[in-house]
Amino acid sequence: MKKVYLETFGCQMNVSDSERIATTLEAGGYEITPDEDAAEVILFNTCSVREKAEHKLYTRIGQVRKTKQNRTALVGVMGCVAQLEGETLFQKSEGIDFVLGTKAVGRIAGAIESTLKHRDKFIDLGEREENYDWSVAEKQRHSPYVAFVPIIEGCNKFCTYCIVPFSRGRERSLPASNIIREVLELRRQGVKEIHLIGQNVNSYRPKTETGLEQFAGAMPFSRLLRAVAATGIERIKFTTSFPRDFHPDIVDAIDENENLCNWVHLPVQTGSDRILKLMRRGHNIENYMRRIDKIRSSRRDISLTTDIIVGFPGETVEDFQETVKLAEYCQFDTAYMFKYSPRPGTPAFAMPDDVSQEEKTARFLELEKSIKHSQFNSLQKELNKTLKVLAEGFSNRTANVLNGHTATHKVVNFEAGEEFLGQIVDVRITECKSNTLFGKIV
Ligand code: 5AD
Ligand code: SF4
Repeated sequence: MKKVYLETFGCQMNVSDSERIATTLEAGGYEITPDEDAAEVILFNTCSVREKAEHKLYTRIGQVRKTKQNRTALVGVMGCVAQLEGETLFQKSEGIDFVLGTKAVGRIAGAIESTLKHRDKFIDLGEREENYDWSVAEKQRHSPYVAFVPIIEGCNKFCTYCIVPFSRGRERSLPASNIIREVLELRRQGVKEIHLIGQNVNSYRPKTETGLEQFAGAMPFSRLLRAVAATGIERIKFTTSFPRDFHPDIVDAIDENENLCNWVHLPVQTGSDRILKLMRRGHNIENYMRRIDKIRSSRRDISLTTDIIVGFPGETVEDFQETVKLAEYCQFDTAYMFKYSPRPGTPAFAMPDDVSQEEKTARFLELEKSIKHSQFNSLQKELNKTLKVLAEGFSNRTANVLNGHTATHKVVNFEAGEEFLGQIVDVRITECKSNTLFGKIV
């Protein structure tokens, strides 16, 4: 049995792809090993959303080629960098034997065999097979209790800074009936929480309505949410939502179904209408605020998280101050902040990257202060409450301390034995630090 080491960078979609890559390989007689030095095949599933993520690949290939005793392992590059760079990867790094694009993941076993047989570089950037199997073997999931379920792939939005529409292709929604079947199977396996994932989950629009008919009258994504809620699985989370397509009915669906978790991740990117236009996001701040108001008006306490880019081309101090103001208005439970990183091939790449590194850093730190403030407030209001927490694993600090997430996707550490793993337990919150809650099981 050939041993394969698989390393994943980037988003949940990549983690999910890697779960299927491992599933395919084990079914084809390969063994997945966590030890790169023992592996005959080394795979990198890559991310290209920012320059830093892409550089990580070249660093890792250098390291692997240096430390590998015999240097005979096959090195394959998959994922977004593979799709975008294609053939040029062979010139960029001599250590690469084969390149497999984002739609070719299902053909990984064939790629390894072909590279070995012909003793030559191999590349496949082709389309997805019609009958591509999206399911993951139980053993290959990143967690026994939490599962990712892709519902839509690709992106049609073409925000000017973003490489994703080029690395992941056009939006394609998976049939609802398959998604529901998968969730029922996961439930049977004992999975407690599923994450419906996609670049823009709420742009979900399947070609046929199979499986959704009984939920007529709402938008396809809210229909899907209600259908998935009806499976009875304990927790359903979904990321990422796109503001323009965020229909108020999504909040109504959360209001109606306890198992639809009260957490929405809605990236705003900037607080300036002028920059939103340059980003071609297709919405303005007023629309965004209206969505936030709807979310905040829910009968449930919905936690709200976002993504923000600082230092987009042409961003002035005034534009940036609009972002700070928006963050103060929205009181995000948390925000993922990024410094703008020019990506070759995107429309923004042609705009002058005119905010200096120092200024990007300064804006990042200023915004971070405001975000940390609202994040801390949001954690502090949980003090002395009893929250439902899914016990997902051991805290890496102390033995006998487990950790997991609330329905609102906050991290909680709590004293408990391993017999609680995989259960949703009541935890009384006793302490809060900058981004984590601590508590005791009750
Ligand atoms: N530079 C910086 N951040 C980016 N993102 C996407 N493209 C870029 C880029 N070129 C951020 C956005 C997106 C998140 C996944 O990554 O905020 O929501
Ligand atoms: Fe990128 Fe915009 Fe698509 Fe998100 S919606 S993946 S930011 S192009």
